[in-house]
Amino acid sequence: MADHTERPEHIERFADPVFLQTAYGIVDPLQVRIVTHQRYGMGQEDIFRSLTRQLAAVASPTSVLDVGAGIGTWHAAIREVLGPQVQYTGLDQSPGMVAALDERLAGDAAATSRLGDAQHLPWDDAAFDWVGLHFMLYHVPNIAGALAEADRVLKPGGILSAATNGPLQYRELMELHREAVAALHLPTIPGGGPLRFSLSNGRHFFPSGRMVQSESHAGGFRFPAAEPAAAYYDSGFYREGLEPEVARANKAALVDLVRHRVADAIARDGAFTVISESGYFWYQKP
Ligand SMILES: C[S@@+](CC[C@H](N)C(=O)[O-])C[C@H]1O[C@@H](n2cnc3c(N)ncnc32)[C@H](O)[C@@H]1O
Repeated sequence: MADHTERPEHIERFADPVFLQTAYGIVDPLQVRIVTHQRYGMGQEDIFRSLTRQLAAVASPTSVLDVGAGIGTWHAAIREVLGPQVQYTGLDQSPGMVAALDERLAGDAAATSRLGDAQHLPWDDAAFDWVGLHFMLYHVPNIAGALAEADRVLKPGGILSAATNGPLQYRELMELHREAVAALHLPTIPGGGPLRFSLSNGRHFFPSGRMVQSESHAGGFRFPAAEPAAAYYDSGFYREGLEPEVARANKAALVDLVRHRVADAIARDGAFTVISESGYFWYQKP
């Protein structure tokens, strides 16, 4: 059942088309985040690989739908764990992402992409063995609707997985951000709050009658230098709690302040550590 207590302004911020266009209309910010995870991530196996391994053992999928595929991070894990035969389809609402996804999928005869909205999937019922919605549901205005759509296109016996973050995700970085916002005396928008679909509140959005299970893993980053942490912050975190135009106008100053504060932390502690928690919900359709 959907969480109807959600504040509308909070939905607007995370599902705002302008935010999504800036964050995902171009590919670079997502690439910065993926590369940062690869280089500075700690204590956590790649979540795509671990969820693919774990859930592939539950069912033997021959067709996979990646909803909100982005640049297709899951595709690599699917090929690694499930082999070259499994049919992979990636859907995203951003033309920039679909173009980047197409580059990744070039030469893979069992993979296709499609432009579209998670809330209205362009397939018949029971079309796929596995539907994944990974790190994307918090952007969708109607989260329960997108999960109902994913369930509709899933075959009986198929797997649905929905990966997301925990509620305290990136707390250390967010604290530096809040300090930088205060130091610049920027007005904040009301209604900032917990992630709309997180490991702690996500369970309520799933269709009734499904046995939803969850897995979570603690991890994070250890930055030995300030620049990669500043680049990560620059990839989107600087917007948190600010009107888009305020964030845009003050981006350089915010990134600069955060870079200096990270450098201070590194001088003091030897590294800047950021704790994260990510994981996934999943179920097998009866
Ligand atoms: C954080 S990225 C995650 C990409 C990928 N799943 C991953 O984990 O690397 C979120 C993606 O969801 C897409 N997205 C957001 N809202 C969507 C919607 N309603 N329908 C389809 N895609 C959407 C964005 O364009 C973006 O590519």
